[in-house]
This record gives sequence, C-alpha cells and structure tokens, in this order.
Amino acid sequence: MKGRLSRYHLLFIAPLVGVILYGEDKFCIFRRIPTPSYSSTAEKKKECDVFSGRWVRDETTRPLYEEWECPYIQPQLTCQEHGRPDRDYQRWRWQPHQCTIPSFNATLMLESLRGKRMMYVGDSLNRGQFVSMVCLLHRSIPEDSKSFETNGSLTVFTAKDYNATVEFYWAPFLLESNSDDAVVHRISDRIVRRGSINKHGKHWKGVDILVFNTYLWWMTGLSFNVLIRGSFEDEDKEMVKVTTEEAYGMAIKTMMRWIVKNMDPNKSRVFFTSMSPSHLKSIDWGGEVNGNCYNETRMIEDSEYWGSDCRKSIMGVIERVLSKSTYPITFLNITQLSGYRKDAHTSIYKQQWSPLTPEQLANPVSYADCVHWCLPGLQDTWNELLFAKLFQF
Ligand SMILES: *[C@@H]1O[C@H](CO)[C@@H](O)[C@H](O)[C@H]1NC(C)=O
Ligand SMILES: *[C@@H]1O[C@H](CO)[C@@H](O)[C@H](O)[C@H]1NC(C)=O
Ligand SMILES: *[C@@H]1O[C@H](CO)[C@@H](O)[C@H](O)[C@H]1NC(C)=O
Ligand SMILES: *[C@@H]1O[C@H](CO)[C@@H](O)[C@H](O)[C@H]1NC(C)=O
Ligand SMILES: *[C@@H]1O[C@H](CO)[C@@H](O)[C@H](O)[C@H]1NC(C)=O
Ligand SMILES: *[C@@H]1O[C@H](CO)[C@@H](O)[C@H](O)[C@H]1NC(C)=O
Repeated sequence: MKGRLSRYHLLFIAPLVGVILYGEDKFCIFRRIPTPSYSSTAEKKKECDVFSGRWVRDETTRPLYEEWECPYIQPQLTCQEHGRPDRDYQRWRWQPHQCTIPSFNATLMLESLRGKRMMYVGDSLNRGQFVSMVCLLHRSIPEDSKSFETNGSLTVFTAKDYNATVEFYWAPFLLESNSDDAVVHRISDRIVRRGSINKHGKHWKGVDILVFNTYLWWMTGLSFNVLIRGSFEDEDKEMVKVTTEEAYGMAIKTMMRWIVKNMDPNKSRVFFTSMSPSHLKSIDWGGEVNGNCYNETRMIEDSEYWGSDCRKSIMGVIERVLSKSTYPITFLNITQLSGYRKDAHTSIYKQQWSPLTPEQLANPVSYADCVHWCLPGLQDTWNELLFAKLFQF
C-alpha cells in the first residue's frame, strides 16, 4: 500500500502553474464546448461566486418544466404523481449575491453538444441531475428525433438531429466496488478496489463533457474497506480498513489521475459535483427530536446552516485534492445551497422499492426518503449552475 500511495503523492505535488479550481470560462465559441481559460489569482478574486446566494420565490419562470411533461423522470422522483399535496418546492430560483446566472437555454446547450457526448458519472443523485438535464432539453427536440435507452450501467439520451448524447453511467464510488451492479447493489458491507478506475473509466473515454459525483455510498461509518488483492468474493482477499476520508481521498485522486491521462483540456470539460446533503434528523435544524424531512414544506432560513454529517471533513478532502489538480476541473459547490432545502426531498411521495408494512404506513417518518430530490425541483438549479459555468456569460 505504501509504495502505491507515495506514487500518488508524487503525481499530485507537481507544480501548479496557473491551475485554478473554478475554471474561469471565456466567452463561448458557437458549437464548441467552451474550455476554461487559466486566470491569475487576482482575476479569480473578481469572479462571482455563484454558489453563494439565496433562494428567491419565482412563480413566473418556475418550474422550468412540468413533471407530467417529462416522461424520463423515474417513478422514485415523481412526487406529484405520488400524491405530494404542495408544489411550493418547485417555485424557487437561486440568486447569487454578486451576480445573476443566465437563464437555461436548451437550444444553446444542444448546439454546443452537436456531434458530442456529455456524461454524468456517479450515483443515484447524479442520475437525478442527469434526468433533470434531459428534461430541460427534451422540449426543444421533436418527438421522433430523440431516444432514451438503458443497457446495464449506461443510460443514453440521444438527440438525433444534433448527433448528441447525454448519458448516465452508474459508478457510485467511481472505483470498482462490490456495489457496481446497476440493479442489484444494495450491499451493506461495501468494499472498493484500490486504484481500479479503468474498469469503469473505459466507458467514459472520448466523452466531451464529464460530470462526476460520489459521496453518499461512502457514508457507512468511520472506516471503509479497501481491497488490495483478490476478488470481492475471495476468502483470502487482502483488504485494509482506512478512514472514510482516506478512502474517499484515494478515490478522487485516482479520478484526477484518470482525467489527466485521458482527457484533453483544450477539447473537453470536467465537472465535479460536491456532496448532496440529506435531511435525516430534524434536530439538525432545531426541529422535533424524531423528525426528518417528512412533512417539511419550507426551507431552512439560517444562512449559516450546514448540517451534522461528515460533509465538512469530506469537503476538506475535496478542497485539498482538487486544489492540486493539474487539469481545470470545474467544481459545482451545491452542498450549502441544497442544505437549506429540506422541503425539496421526495419524502414519502415516490414509488417504493418494496411494499410498505403496516407499521411503516402508520409512521411515515420511518420511510420518508430524505436523500433524493423531487423533479422538477432543486436539481434543475444544479444544472443551471453547470450551464452558467459552461458558458460563463
Ligand atoms: C438561446 O440560444 C440560441 C442559440 O444561441 C439563440 O439563438 C437564442 O436567442 C437564445 N434564446 C434566448 C432566450 O436567449
Ligand atoms: C456523431 O458524433 C460522434 C461523437 O459523439 C462522432 O464520432 C460522429 O462522427 C458523429 N457523426 C456524424 C454523422 O456527425
Ligand atoms: C448492452 O451492452 C453490451 C456490452 O456492454 C452489449 O454486448 C449489448 O449488445 C448491449 N445491448 C443492447 C441491447 O444494446
Ligand atoms: C492546448 O492548447 C494550447 C494553446 O493552444 C497548447 O499550447 C497546448 O499544447 C494544448 N494542450 C494539449 C494537451 O493539447
Ligand atoms: C405537518 O406539519 C403541519 C405544520 O407545518 C402540522 O400542522 C401537521 O400536524 C404536520 N403533520 C404531520 C402528519 O406531522
Ligand atoms: C463550498 O462552499 C462551502 C460553503 O458554501 C465552503 O465552505 C467550501 O469551502 C466550498 N468548497 C470549495 C472547494 O470551494
């Protein structure tokens, strides 16, 4: 393990000339994916932090599409169809303190994707963001010139007239793990294989816009099993237990190494989305002792609110690792702005994976999903921010 790790370190202590975390994007050249320019620290200071802001109510332009209009939303996210009585959660727009983000322009997005592939890689939260993007685009594409197909870990939405695809690839840890089956992955004893990114990475090669996320699946406790040698099923496999932060850091360092080796910064864009926050305990925001997001229809007003899980330490790991990147990765720092939105989860208004027991039905808090988000809803904002970063007007 030691030898391997020190090689990582060598790679990431390389000189960081002109490398920035939030690629400041130049005005886009039509039909080309705008690539980030390298800017000095002084310039970076003037840049607007679009992730620092507040939610404003907007009844005229929100939601950006209707739930019933978009056939691609999986039944785990269609809250209205599953009886959610309120719609206020759909009517908020993110307003950065220092600037205004551009309106999402589906035509412009599609033109920029002409002859190109965009792919979201990660877990079910990234799948939600992928579906949001498809919903944002699909109204601008005639019925007979689009398709949506899933094969194993890969789901592909095609806009035929544009020869463009928007795709989702299931890899909850990015690395190879024992939870990689796109359907059967509910394994409590999770293991990742050290350094093993190529198993999935070979499916991302040649993609023009990559959007990564990974977080939720690491949250199983204080430590994590990392496979060094052998297969997941082997009796005599070699494993080490490391802290969750170490395991997570190893995974995103491996991701960065893959990016540097396989992506051309002049042609492609890479995004990394920060942790999607859950709302599992009302006491975090001063609510009742046994509550969670169930029956929450209003957001958290405290602008300092952060929550109680290991988001802070994982954010620290991300900051340390990404700041050493030799590739301009655009960071979508959606954690805090989403943290306010305890009203935006699917809660009990979703298709359940298995039938509910009478005990559960009697106590809705027990089966409310306070991790995933209704669509349309919060995740459309994540894509508006992605759009803003892509075209930075
Ligand atoms: C959207 O983008 C297209 C293509 O660049 C442009 O022609 C159109 O005016 C834009 N629409 C809006 C509302 O800005
Ligand atoms: C369609 O796009 C792919 C890349 O996604 C490219 O390889 C191919 O040449 C394009 N085909 C046409 C007809 O433009
Ligand atoms: C699904 O993918 C596998 C390999 O990844 C391929 O062999 C198979 O033909 C694909 N099936 C369809 C229906 O496209
Ligand atoms: C990207 O473009 C710059 C200037 O156009 C060039 O100097 C550099 O070598 C290119 N990088 C790659 C990886 O092609
Ligand atoms: C839901 O919240 C409202 C107030 O916001 C409260 O009056 C009601 O009793 C709550 N319902 C349940 C089932 O907890
Ligand atoms: C993301 O935002 C949070 C709070 O809004 C901040 O504490 C953190 O430093 C930011 N992360 C990065 C990598 O900029």
